Amino acid sequence: MKNIKTGIIGSGFMGAAHTEALRRIGGVEITAVASDDEIARNLIADKYGISQRYSDWQEIINDPEIEVVHNCTPNYLHYEINKAAIESGKHIISEKPLTISVAQSEVLIKLLETSGVVNAVNFNYRFYPLIQHLKKTVDENELGSIYYIHGHYLQDWLYYDTDYNWRLEPELSGESRAVADIGSHWCDLIQFVTGKKITEVFANLITVHKTRKKPPGSIETFKGKEAETVDNNASEIEVKTEDAGSVMFRLENGTYGVFTVSQVSAGRKNNFMVNIDGSKKSISWNQENPNEMWIGYREKANEVLLKDPSLLKESAREYAHYPGGHPEGYPDGPKNMFHKIYGFIRSGLDPRKVKPEFPTFKDGHIENKIVESILKSSKDKTWIKV
Ligand SMILES: NC(=O)c1ccc[n+]([C@@H]2O[C@H](COP(=O)([O-])OP(=O)(O)OC[C@H]3O[C@@H](n4cnc5c(N)ncnc54)[C@H](O)[C@@H]3O)[C@@H](O)[C@H]2O)c1
Repeated sequence: MKNIKTGIIGSGFMGAAHTEALRRIGGVEITAVASDDEIARNLIADKYGISQRYSDWQEIINDPEIEVVHNCTPNYLHYEINKAAIESGKHIISEKPLTISVAQSEVLIKLLETSGVVNAVNFNYRFYPLIQHLKKTVDENELGSIYYIHGHYLQDWLYYDTDYNWRLEPELSGESRAVADIGSHWCDLIQFVTGKKITEVFANLITVHKTRKKPPGSIETFKGKEAETVDNNASEIEVKTEDAGSVMFRLENGTYGVFTVSQVSAGRKNNFMVNIDGSKKSISWNQENPNEMWIGYREKANEVLLKDPSLLKESAREYAHYPGGHPEGYPDGPKNMFHKIYGFIRSGLDPRKVKPEFPTFKDGHIENKIVESILKSSKDKTWIKV
């Protein structure tokens, strides 16, 4: 099998996660990493034996050997890099959100009408074995008709007003924070599992900390919590994006639901919960305990399904790499997704003609429309059509 040559842009939390996942799928040679952070760039390159190190991401686009680009940069750079990759004929795997506005993602979708490059957005949570199993369960009508969908995505890494990250700056992150950052995963997962689009939303978003203390240096994603002292040189800045909020939604088939997002919920680390209540049974799944799915009944005792290939729907088995009782987790989602994407690239198929089994830029564009509708709804205090 010929190695596919790949370049990674960004050397932070996700740059490292993509690199590690790619090393685990095989058949991919990461030839270059680009980042404006020299120390982190060298750390990743040394650890994974990557020969080229660039300070300017454009070098990855200009490198004729590189066939695939992974965009793991802050949100505001997604548009420019994704666009440059498409225009140079390179396959592109972008972090979410696809861009920071619908206007931007529309341009990318238009460009892809005349380009056959493989494009993907890292909605990695689809790729847990139990989520794939759940999707098949819903497809086969085992839940019956769906009465209600509810859940949340809660974190605590921005709990204090001294917690800081580039995501707090709209110029770098976009006009939505909690919704675009984590709510987008929740919406994508629900649309994936049910096969139905979110068509209407009614949202109430809140900013708990109206100001925050910005330290002079940058802080790595999720790492602020590990700081032992508060930086006395921090400057007070106004916060313009939401810390938390709830969104009621309607799916295209008329099903209603609600979800809550928060980055200020003490003790909740990456608490991504999905509940689907059907006429035959209910299910509940939480990303912090991803190898179990709760199944609820009224007439008999409830059940817990453990991730065990022998107990999963056949179509979900390929996503479970170990036997039951051997937990699989967060790093396995991107690995499963990249496996599918690189398989597609290797097959030479055109994503305009054959629908890929992974989330594409179209899904990222849809997500952007949901995020903008949620912002508008919270502002206008009314239902908004997506
Ligand atoms: N899918 C997921 O589960 C998931 C999880 C976390 C983050 N993300 C997404 O991944 C992206 C990156 O987030 P992160 O948490 O890794 O952030 P991060 O701050 O940890 O990493 C960002 C990286 O981009 C680099 N960078 C910044 N400006 C650059 C430039 N001009 N040229 C080259 N490199 C530049 C930084 O040096 C850093 O290495 C975001 O879009 C975020 O939404 C996705």
